Amino acid sequence: MAIVVVSTGRAIPPRRVTNEDLAALIDTSDEWIRSHTGIGARHIAADDVASSDLGYEAALNALQYALDQGLVAEKSLKSLIETIDLIVLGSSTQDYYSHPSTACIVQNKLGAVNAAAFDITEACSSFIFAFETARALLGAGNRRRALVIGAEVLSKITNWDERETCVLFGDGAGAVLLEQKEGGGGIIRSVLGSDGSGWEHLILRRGGSRNPWKKGEVVEQVPAIEMNGHAVYNFAVKVIIKTIKTMLDEEGIELHDLDLIIPHQANGRIIQAAGKRLNIPEEKFYTNMEEYANTSSASIPIALDECNRSGRIKRGDLVMTVGFGGGLSYGGNLIRW
Ligand code: ACO
Repeated sequence: MAIVVVSTGRAIPPRRVTNEDLAALIDTSDEWIRSHTGIGARHIAADDVASSDLGYEAALNALQYALDQGLVAEKSLKSLIETIDLIVLGSSTQDYYSHPSTACIVQNKLGAVNAAAFDITEACSSFIFAFETARALLGAGNRRRALVIGAEVLSKITNWDERETCVLFGDGAGAVLLEQKEGGGGIIRSVLGSDGSGWEHLILRRGGSRNPWKKGEVVEQVPAIEMNGHAVYNFAVKVIIKTIKTMLDEEGIELHDLDLIIPHQANGRIIQAAGKRLNIPEEKFYTNMEEYANTSSASIPIALDECNRSGRIKRGDLVMTVGFGGGLSYGGNLIRW
C-alpha cells in the first residue's frame, strides 16, 4: 500500500512588500537582506485574514486542481470533499490560542464532514511533521484521503520594529492531497527529530501557561517571535546535513538519485552552507524565499505546489523535503512523486 501525493495547492496574499518598502520604514536595506538571507520580498495578509482563511484557500486550490487535471474519479468538488478522511494542519499562527484547532475551522469551511481534523504545532517543521503524521494514519489502513496543510500569517506575530527578525518572514499557505493506493512509491520515508535543549532559541513568550496574560496588564508590545539567529543558523545547517544523509543512507540511495530537494525557505545561506558540505550542486535545491521569504510551515507545501504545476517535479521523480524550526525541531520526507 502506498501513500501518494495526488494534488497540490497554494494561497498567497496579494499584498507584496519588497525589501525597499521595509527600508523606507526601518534601518535596513535591500542589499543587506538579499546578501544575508536571499530574500527579496514577502506577501503580507490583510488585517482580517487568519491562517484558516489561507489554509482553506490553499486546500480548495489543491482540490480544484485534482478535479481539473482528472487526478481523482469524483466529478464535483462536493463529492471530492466528502471523501476526505483527515485534515492535518501545520501552523505557528493558529487562529485561536489553544482551541479550536485551525484544522477544524478549515474543515467547517470546506464542508469536509467526514474528516477528522487537528493541528500540528512544531513551528517551521510543522508541515514535515504533519505530512508524516498523515502518512502514518493513512498507512494504518482505514482512512483513504488526507489534506495536509501548512498555513501562516506570521506578520501578526512579527515585531515590525525589530530589523533582525521582521525582514525574514512572510504569510501564505500550501496544501497537499494525499491518497492511499495499491502499489509502491509515494511517501517512502521520513525523518523527524527534536532538540529541546534549544527551546529558547525561537520563542513566542507570552500567552501560554508559563507566561499567561494577567488581568489589568497593559500590553506595550504585541507578542512576537524572539530568535537567537546565530544558534538557529548553526542548528539548521547541522540538521539539514544530518537529515539528508540519514534519508539517503536508510534508503540506500545516492545524492544523484534525487531529482530535487525542497528545503524550508528560511535563508539561502543556510541552504548553500549545507549544500557545500555535502557537495550538492545549488540547482538540486529549489528555492523561492526571494519572493515569499520564510513562511514557516507553509514554505515547503508552497514550493511543492510551484514545482508540481510548473513541471519542475514530474511523476516518478524522487523528491526530498528537509526543514527545521522552533523546538528546536527538524525533519524531512522522501517522496516518489
Ligand atoms: N538590516 C540591516 N542590518 C541588520 C539587519 C537588517 N535587517 N539585521 C541585523 N542587522 C545587523 C546587525 O545589527 C549586525 O550589526 P552590527 O555588526 O553592527 O552589530 C549585523 O547586521 C550582523 O548581524 P548578524 O546577526 O551577525 O547577521 P547574520 O549574518 O548572522 O544574519 C540572520 C542574521 C539572517 C538572522 C541569520 O543569523 C539567520 O538566518 N539565522 C537563522 C534564522 C532563521 O532561519 N530563522 C527562522 C527559523 S524557522 C522558525 O521556526 C520560525
